[in-house]
Amino acid sequence: MGINRNNNFRNLTINDKANYWPYGGTFFSSPTGRFSDGLLVPDFLAMKLKIPLWKPYLASGGEHEFLHGAKFAGGGSAALGDLGIPGRKVATVLKQSLGDMEAKKLLMEAVYAFSIGTNDYASFAKTYPFANATKQQEYVHMVIGKLTDVIKEIYKIGGRKFAMHNVGPWGCMPRLRQYFGLSNNKCHDGLLTIARMHNDALSNAAMEIESQLAGFKYLIFDVYNSALIRIERFKESIIAYRGNNCGIEPYELCSNPNDHIFFHGAHPTEHCYKQMARLIWEGGPNVTKPYNMKQLFALEVKDIEN
Ligand SMILES: *[C@@H]1O[C@H](CO)[C@@H](O)[C@H](O)[C@H]1NC(C)=O
Ligand SMILES: *[C@@H]1O[C@H](CO)[C@@H](O)[C@H](O)[C@H]1NC(C)=O
Ligand SMILES: *[C@@H]1O[C@H](CO)[C@@H](O)[C@H](O)[C@H]1NC(C)=O
Repeated sequence: MGINRNNNFRNLTINDKANYWPYGGTFFSSPTGRFSDGLLVPDFLAMKLKIPLWKPYLASGGEHEFLHGAKFAGGGSAALGDLGIPGRKVATVLKQSLGDMEAKKLLMEAVYAFSIGTNDYASFAKTYPFANATKQQEYVHMVIGKLTDVIKEIYKIGGRKFAMHNVGPWGCMPRLRQYFGLSNNKCHDGLLTIARMHNDALSNAAMEIESQLAGFKYLIFDVYNSALIRIERFKESIIAYRGNNCGIEPYELCSNPNDHIFFHGAHPTEHCYKQMARLIWEGGPNVTKPYNMKQLFALEVKDIEN
């Protein structure tokens, strides 16, 4: 597969690239820039859609590649700051290659998937470890405001279908449990609280956008509860990796990352991503609502315009 994330095409430090062993070990024979042992949720979703795995936007050679979509995450992503890659050009390229009508239809039928939040709250918690509830709420408002602006911008270009997930139970990340000196099956309450603040605000924002923009359709996948259930089930054995940062000696890797939720201190295993992808794709309304992704893709544009 070779190097396959946008960050590998950017001038960043090695910590932002995930292009070294043991990243990639389970699925790929070499690291690809994915912060895991193998495939990530978008890879599994591409498989469900029976299309080639998305290539990074910055690597796309031929314009026809955008017919199956484009991937903008830079290894990670965030609403605020500079982790993502701007991509307005895709619509222009599609219009040039397909003509206005076809391009419009494609942009309308496409699903625009966002995976943001944790990095935003991680940088906030680092900068303001003692923020009170008011300040936290202000920050949540900024993150959701930025996401809302971006959704509205994509809507203007023709986008109608949006897939999002809420912020996961990041206060349970092994790296943070270690940092805060929590015993193995405890999570950090403060970090879970700000995640829940975000998650409430996200549901409200989505419903508000729905009331403002005709034909706007969305799903929110509840990764918070879906992952928390699994973390609680696994308890001590949630992590496949013992060491500090991935790949930095000395470390020890369990023989079967598939038995664990986290690959290393901050990122899940391929096994976990596969389960999450299945839930997003075909999960019931207790995990993804008001649609799952299969249903969202199946909505017809004519239904949407009505
Ligand atoms: C990459 O970043 C380094 C450190 O910030 C800088 O010294 C170097 O000139 C940059 N290279 C390019 C090609 O932008
Ligand atoms: C919360 O923190 C902000 C500044 O960080 C401060 O201005 C404000 O007074 C605090 N609010 C309460 C209720 O303590
Ligand atoms: C959703 O429902 C299924 C089946 O009833 C259950 O197994 C699962 O734990 C639920 N998930 C969440 C996140 O509540």
